[in-house]
Amino acid sequence: MKTSPRSTSLAIPTPRQVYDYLNRYVIGQDRAKRTVAIAAYNHLKRCNQKAPGGKRLIKKSNVLLIGPTGSGKTHIARTLAEFLEVPFTVADATEYTEAGYYGKDVEVLVGELLHQADQDVALAQRGIVFIDEVDKIARRSQGARTGAGSRDIGGEGVQQGLLKILEGREIFVPLNVTQHWNKHDFVAIDTQDILFIAAGTFSDLRLYDDAKSRAVGFGSGGEQTGKVSRPITEKQLLDYGLLAEFLGRLPVRVQLDQLAEPELMRILTVPPDSVIREYQALLKMDGVDLQFSEDALREIVRFSVRKHTGARSLRTFVEEICHEIMFEAPERRGDTIVIDGKTAARRLEAFAEAAGDSEG
Ligand SMILES: Nc1ncnc2c1ncn2[C@@H]1O[C@H](COP(=O)(O)OP(=O)(O)O)[C@@H](O)[C@H]1O
Ligand SMILES: [Mg+2]
Repeated sequence: MKTSPRSTSLAIPTPRQVYDYLNRYVIGQDRAKRTVAIAAYNHLKRCNQKAPGGKRLIKKSNVLLIGPTGSGKTHIARTLAEFLEVPFTVADATEYTEAGYYGKDVEVLVGELLHQADQDVALAQRGIVFIDEVDKIARRSQGARTGAGSRDIGGEGVQQGLLKILEGREIFVPLNVTQHWNKHDFVAIDTQDILFIAAGTFSDLRLYDDAKSRAVGFGSGGEQTGKVSRPITEKQLLDYGLLAEFLGRLPVRVQLDQLAEPELMRILTVPPDSVIREYQALLKMDGVDLQFSEDALREIVRFSVRKHTGARSLRTFVEEICHEIMFEAPERRGDTIVIDGKTAARRLEAFAEAAGDSEG
């Protein structure tokens, strides 16, 4: 017998095994990691359940992740897909429309998964689709004309469109989304074994106590308490403008924490693929030993907190700091280069100025 990939073998990884893997790459977010691990486990059990007549007892365990920018929503989903060795695609809900309007049809979303699976239908049918920005497709009945009212355009229609793929049924998907849409080139895909992970910030709901985290950002030595201050309720999500049917198809819900300074510090250095490790490895190839002082790391983290981008911009900031070094590295073989706090702060300030940012 051929050895099958992890996801199709009978030995399903346990929630603990999934969690342990996520733990290596995802810092903090313990509750989200556990929840996703359980959802993945149930999902795989469900996939393996051979039901006569097609009906399955175990409900789909599609997930809704709620959390601020750069807290790791996409990262968790991607890391899960890596562990399960299944195709993975990221979709932005705001790019889709109800059929007949300008924008992508939801079928294209599954088409992109098929593309990730090298057009292998069976493989795509076990994949993971990450749908970002679902809070931006909320239905808005009132207040639509004030400020951020654009989210209601077609929002309800997109939710309706997504319903059919979330619930699991056969749809017709363009066979090669990278090529021009050709109506004759489509293939039937059953979405019932695809795991959907939806995500949104729901920032209007002010779930995270910003005042608190800001107060700590300035000295005081205290640690930022980036914990969820208000758990979101089903009613809030409905009031926000998510359709009951849409929410019903995302039964597993979890809130991520706002990442605080200690977690951002660890994200910089701890995961095997962390950005600091990556830069050190790059420069090692030039025979250069690159070191960051504790202060330098702290400057990067503070800058991220100031920008409210969570972990999202850590890479950009490190890139900015290492710019010159990357250029010179091949000529500095044998050197040890230490980035200290002052250097890091200076480069980050210059970067902020260049970006036309007068804040702080
Ligand atoms: N909790 C975390 N642990 C480790 N890395 C993280 C975490 N959160 C974010 N990152 C890093 O920041 C990047 C952006 O995060 P992302 O998952 O896209 O945030 P979100 O989807 O919540 O806006 C990721 O690619 C990852 O490198
Ligand atoms: Mg994201």
